Amino acid sequence: MNDVTPTSAERAAKLEGMGCKRKRVEDIRFVQGKGNYVDDIRLPGMLYGDLVRSPHGHARVKKINTTKAAALPGVVAVITAETLKTVNLAWMPTLAGDTQMVLADGKVLFQNQEVAFIVAENREAAADAVELVEVEYEPLPVNVDPLKAMTDGAPIIREDLKGKTDGAHGKRKHYNHVFSWQAGDRTAADAAFAKAEVTIKEMIIYPRVHPCPLETCQCVASFDKIKGELTLWGTFQAPHVIRTVGSLISKIPEHKIHVIAPDIGGGFGNKVGAYPGYICSIVASIVTGRPVKWTEDRIENLSTTAFARDFYMDVEIAATKDGRVTGLRCYTVADHGAFDACANATKWPAGLFSIISGSYDFPAAYCLVDGVYTNKAPGGVAYRCSFRVTEAAYCIERAMDIMAQKLGMDPAEFRMKNLIRREQFPYTSAFGWQYDSGDYQTALKKAMESVDYKKLREEQNSKRAAFKRGETRELMGIGVAFFTEIVGAGPSRACDILGIAMFDSAEIRIHPTGSGICRLGTKSQGQGHETTYAQIIATELGLPADNIAVEEGNTDTAPYGLGTYGSRSTPVSGAATAMACRKIKAKAQMIAAYMLEVHDDDLEWDVDRFRVKGNPERFKTMTELAWAAYHEVPPGMEPGLEAINYYDPPNFTYPFGAYICVVDIDVDTGQTKVRRFYALDDCGTRINPMIIEGQIHGGLTEAFGIAMGQEIHYDEDGNVTTASFLDYFLPTAVETPRWETDWTTTPSPHHPIGAKGVGESPNVGGVPCFSNAVNDAFAFLGSTHIQMPHDHWRTWMAAEKLGLHA
Ligand code: CDP
Repeated sequence: MNDVTPTSAERAAKLEGMGCKRKRVEDIRFVQGKGNYVDDIRLPGMLYGDLVRSPHGHARVKKINTTKAAALPGVVAVITAETLKTVNLAWMPTLAGDTQMVLADGKVLFQNQEVAFIVAENREAAADAVELVEVEYEPLPVNVDPLKAMTDGAPIIREDLKGKTDGAHGKRKHYNHVFSWQAGDRTAADAAFAKAEVTIKEMIIYPRVHPCPLETCQCVASFDKIKGELTLWGTFQAPHVIRTVGSLISKIPEHKIHVIAPDIGGGFGNKVGAYPGYICSIVASIVTGRPVKWTEDRIENLSTTAFARDFYMDVEIAATKDGRVTGLRCYTVADHGAFDACANATKWPAGLFSIISGSYDFPAAYCLVDGVYTNKAPGGVAYRCSFRVTEAAYCIERAMDIMAQKLGMDPAEFRMKNLIRREQFPYTSAFGWQYDSGDYQTALKKAMESVDYKKLREEQNSKRAAFKRGETRELMGIGVAFFTEIVGAGPSRACDILGIAMFDSAEIRIHPTGSGICRLGTKSQGQGHETTYAQIIATELGLPADNIAVEEGNTDTAPYGLGTYGSRSTPVSGAATAMACRKIKAKAQMIAAYMLEVHDDDLEWDVDRFRVKGNPERFKTMTELAWAAYHEVPPGMEPGLEAINYYDPPNFTYPFGAYICVVDIDVDTGQTKVRRFYALDDCGTRINPMIIEGQIHGGLTEAFGIAMGQEIHYDEDGNVTTASFLDYFLPTAVETPRWETDWTTTPSPHHPIGAKGVGESPNVGGVPCFSNAVNDAFAFLGSTHIQMPHDHWRTWMAAEKLGLHA
């Protein structure tokens, strides 16, 4: 007779829990065009907002005449700073403790700054009225160079701060100074350099780039005058934070504000903060009594909403002659634009930049960051990055290559020699970070073997010889990068936003029939949360993932959370989900014990059921226990099966990876072809390998865009010259290389399911890997560092400077 009882493994497979390449449930609506984005929201009587923006990079606003605009048919209201002053909203607080003009108040500080807000019956009338607002400007001297911001006589950017010696993060040393922040041990680092056998020093610039999500920022504000309640739909990565900040700014009680983030088409940090368009829409709805929608266009998004990077990093490494690193120093100037609207945890004005010692065992290290104001748009967000990790990783990975070059060592061999060893974990870096787990050498070795690194170098050597003999005009570059991320902000002792500790949450309700719903304080922007949180629950509770609905983004229903950015969803809310499951499971175990008439301790868990130890035929499945929870609970026990968990992680998680890239460069055209890109990632326990692969493909594509062509560029008059996709490189499938992905698995010891974040790792590791490949191609000709982006023109210029076109 055939035994048809499914095995534990068969039952586990049916659940589609952790480790399963479960198809994304959200794609059912997305591929059919049935997503629900802010732009899909249409409310009765809805008005449309549009912004008048400054053509100048820096100018005094002498006069604003709104008469003609207001008289245009269809225009309902024109709002200026003067209007906002009547409700005390002309300026708004930023997440970084600064204040920012909502609409130009006396002067404009960057091109395309918001000057007036038109409210009209339709988009077209609003756009026409924008053209009719007459603004009289008196141009002022402009500075867009952060290295000149603190010089004598530099244009004063923030007149409102003139004379203020204290900023949100301590003493200010110049009228354009935002903050100074330092980490590490300066004395120890200086001592290491004093006795160093070999040193390198290089100014490494990470240009200003922009996350440019496909969907731009937008909102619909609807104020109900009768109830005194505001409902705000928007592209918000952190809806609860928007509700709290909205309440503090508007003085509307928090329980009367309902924030809803529907489907979001990409965020990458761009949708964390609050923008003038949101405030103006809220005020316009209060003033008109009608819902108001505001939608940015692409130029507005690229030129005014939160940028990323713009770090000027003067880095030094000290090492012994035989290639062991002994010290690290870095002085950085961070360009914050006209207002410090950086999205960082409060205590970290330069984010987690002090992860700059990377994956290497530096005995001594020190860094100092000065933030400065310039005539550029505000922001400074973590674009697919955990609070400035990307800048840090780029800096150290370029610097390691430069040092390897000086030592005459192979860059992979030099890294291998200095990587933190497996037995050193948990490892405390010279900056005080406690890396939770890692097996770096194994990862780098696997990467090198997978691409046959030795053979690639041999090929490169013969190509270099051929180039020198004049037999080819093509250079081959091999980029190696090893990165350590720091994700999962964060432990409340280290991280808060405006005083709110950075925990996160999950609330799970299991219904009588064994299906359920999980609500969270995070918000997916395309990462597949509806799929993967359900997988955690499936494994933890033994219920099929298909039976679990996942809901995020509604502040009325979700428990309080700090949102999704910095790859924090898995490290923090993934943990909250597992912990909430464990509360439910503990209750289910007591119900099972009661039903089976045994002690709780006599039960053991088997995939989807509690069974009696030594008597596996006697069991209760989770589905049966869910039913029982609503009608057969032990005496004295509350009915129902639900739990909530607010998870304050004990530490960050430290995913890592080893990437190798091969490029071929035509020195006569600068054209750079990515021949191969291999990415090995270790994000601890893998919840959904298919989604991880998708995250890595996406992150590498963004890294490719950044390294090979992106820059938000300003001319010296403050004009932003890259404000559309004609000038700003957004890679499509045509340009994007093919990715080879791989992994190792080193679980996090402190995370309930051992998972680390992964979403931004490929961006963090990808950018230096591309840049190292391009730089490596030219290294044998004496070049040490070519700045990003490595577009064809700049690469051609690099060849020109080396005299290769003679
Ligand atoms: O916070 P964010 O969602 O951007 O980043 P994440 O926590 O790294 O997660 C990105 C996606 O990858 C989510 O769908 C996660 O569930 C998934 N993931 C995974 O399957 N396994 C991991 N160890 C980490 C993330």
